[in-house]
Amino acid sequence: MAQTTPAPIALKIDRAEGVWLYDEKGNAYLDLIAGISVSSLGHQNEQVVNAIKTQVDKHMHVMVYGEVIHDTPVAFSKSITDLLPDSLNNVYFVNSGSEAIDAAMKLAKRITGRTSFVAQHNAYHGSGQGPLSLMDDAYFTQRYRPLLNDVRYIDQNDCSAVDELPVEGVAAVIVELVQAERGARKADLLYLQKLRQYCDATCSLLIFDEIQTGVFRTGPFVAFQDYGIVPDILALGKAIGGGMPLACIVSNSKLMRSFSDRPILGHITTFGGHPVCCAAGLANLDYISKHIDSFDIEHKEALFRQYLQHDNIREISGKGLLLACHIDNRIDIIEFNKNLLKEGVFTDWFLFNQNAIRIAPPLVIENDQIQWVCSKILQVLDRYHF
Ligand SMILES: Cc1ncc(COP(=O)(O)O)c(C=O)c1O
Repeated sequence: MAQTTPAPIALKIDRAEGVWLYDEKGNAYLDLIAGISVSSLGHQNEQVVNAIKTQVDKHMHVMVYGEVIHDTPVAFSKSITDLLPDSLNNVYFVNSGSEAIDAAMKLAKRITGRTSFVAQHNAYHGSGQGPLSLMDDAYFTQRYRPLLNDVRYIDQNDCSAVDELPVEGVAAVIVELVQAERGARKADLLYLQKLRQYCDATCSLLIFDEIQTGVFRTGPFVAFQDYGIVPDILALGKAIGGGMPLACIVSNSKLMRSFSDRPILGHITTFGGHPVCCAAGLANLDYISKHIDSFDIEHKEALFRQYLQHDNIREISGKGLLLACHIDNRIDIIEFNKNLLKEGVFTDWFLFNQNAIRIAPPLVIENDQIQWVCSKILQVLDRYHF
């Protein structure tokens, strides 16, 4: 298989259960990142696994997205829109977050007849050429240029930058509510309100990329529910598939209808809304919705903040169980994470922040497991003296 870094961790995973990953020798590692904000219920949740098996016994892939009716994706669309405000009443399933953002960009162009976008510095919206155009980081984009060039970047929470946005020509503004890859940085209410006002005043669309924040990772089903600001297009991915590859955009049916007219097949995908992925997603959402109060995400966030105190820790940022533990700049994060792995903790770093540990465990992590994993982080931090 192709590599994406010169020296991958290359831990050989044999099986996984709950919050634990096991290597071929049976060593256990606490999964502190849930496959990058995916496995919210931990690994091998029985309800999700059984739903997959049941669907496989009925049928797998039958026909490309949108041409025939499958019960499972229809039921899943309903369960997603039931959790959202009335205006977000229509779901388009795709296979990955990157595709969801690409579809959202196309929809915004189609609806507004405009071609330019506003995105944030240090944003990550996916690796395809549309989403990559929304990334300003030269290191990651330089070798793939030209990309879409009509993109303006603003800093997260910079309200004065919003005031300076052009009054014409912007198809959409796209933001994450917690900028994950910058090291879990939360959006301010005032900033989001200004963006909503800007979009309303200029007839641009507001797109929320909740691919990482969605599905209860920060507390509510989607993070915007904490702010009371509703986007025109919502992108969900990662955890929405319950461990299977699935993503979607959710918008209003009046907007979404444009994909079916002039040109027809305005957005198409062979596997989007795959019945097995939707069965997993449906069972996953059903289970989480029923148990969310017992997960007590707010309390778990507080526990991480309480336990992670050390001279080598500068700050804990983020919301819910999408957190970053910012450590002393002099510590090499790759080496640090390797040391954590030896202690039985599996974590990762962030694309645009080389000094933070990713904390995004399965939502089902238990309080004593939080205490244990934090003690391991502190133990490794103890080895660094400056
Ligand atoms: C906020 C955000 N948007 C989009 C994506 C892209 O998702 P995918 O890797 O499924 O294409 C990611 C992936 O990390 C993400 O974190």
